Amino acid sequence: MSRILLIIGGGIAAYKSCELVRLLRKRGHAVRCVLTEGALHFVTPMTLAALSEDRVYSSLWDLKDEHEMGHIQLSRKADLVVIAPATADLLARMAGGHADDLATTVLLATDKPVLAAPAMNVRMWLHPATRRNVERLRADGVRVMDPDEGAMACGEWGPGRLPEPEAIATEIERVLAQPLPVRPLSTRHALVTAGPTHEPIDPVRYLANLSSGRQGFAIAGALAALGAKVTLVAGPVVLPTPAGVDRIDVTTAREMAAAVEAALPADVAVMVAAVADWRVEPAAHKTKKGDASLTLGLIENPDILAALARSPDRPRLVIGFAAETERVIEHAVAKRARKGVDWIVANDVSGDVMGGDANAVHLVTSDGVEDWPRLPKEAVAAQLADRIAAALNA
Ligand code: CTP
Repeated sequence: MSRILLIIGGGIAAYKSCELVRLLRKRGHAVRCVLTEGALHFVTPMTLAALSEDRVYSSLWDLKDEHEMGHIQLSRKADLVVIAPATADLLARMAGGHADDLATTVLLATDKPVLAAPAMNVRMWLHPATRRNVERLRADGVRVMDPDEGAMACGEWGPGRLPEPEAIATEIERVLAQPLPVRPLSTRHALVTAGPTHEPIDPVRYLANLSSGRQGFAIAGALAALGAKVTLVAGPVVLPTPAGVDRIDVTTAREMAAAVEAALPADVAVMVAAVADWRVEPAAHKTKKGDASLTLGLIENPDILAALARSPDRPRLVIGFAAETERVIEHAVAKRARKGVDWIVANDVSGDVMGGDANAVHLVTSDGVEDWPRLPKEAVAAQLADRIAAALNA
């Protein structure tokens, strides 16, 4: 027997939720219903209370309910949260992280798997706003079923009908049978830097390097997938933010240093960024070709990683990357000692690593050097995230 919290949205398909409750009870599950304000116009709490043989909840502002159960408890006491019908408005509010009624508050507070069975007019389902919201929710880990196709209550034809209660009940049991995702970093804060930095020479020119940010973004995503709260300080790159990651965009090394400091404390820091080692004093105006006297006076940038490793707020695990083009291991071992970090992930960047899809790295720790095979950057990220989780939970 599983405990299902069923959230009923305000659409004509809400009447089918009564049948869903009956089916789930028949299959031996406990069902507790939460109705939105809109749902109250389509089905009555009396019907659902009788079918579910339990109390029905609909208001965030019911003193008695809030005292006895509370919206946090409602979400915690379930094995699975199901939304049927999930209306366009409910999906939009979920995607935006709203918590302006009992249903959305429960959905924001839950740590349980969430399954949504959408139902709405075909135009609403196909609208770019709904497409965006569904994509966002799926990226956030919500299982959104595809609606059925057919004749609709509004007289139109197409996708948007609530899947049949039998199909929703089967999907519910399929989700319940899946093992819960492992989230060994759920109480940890991870700080990641990624990408290059740009150091201005004048208003239209800058010093840069070939870093694409892909390895760092993949690591931020892999840490978030293990449940960590992730702050990603990103240099100038064109990459989408991985799901569940808080991103802070910066341009120069000094901005990156300030953002890293502001993001502390953290349990682990993975400094993947290819920080420019030097900056110049930028000219106030565009330098002209005729300025024959132009020389770039290089000024050393702060070493973000070394400063972090020595800071009073030092994360428990500090990991640096080493980009080398020769004597990779030797330089990486020396860099680990010089910068005072726990692990160095060393890679040979003389080939196509910067900007490429794959990476062959060596993990340098106090125990020695491990040579990892050449792997897609996502696989390097997942493997490193697993190692971080093992080290922090040891
Ligand atoms: N790093 C940093 N701040 C800098 C330079 C580098 O935080 N100003 C970090 C990088 O994010 C990486 C590590 O230091 O994690 C190593 O960077 P790398 O460029 O390989 O080393 P350098 O410090 O530049 O040392 P060297 O010039 O000897 O190669």
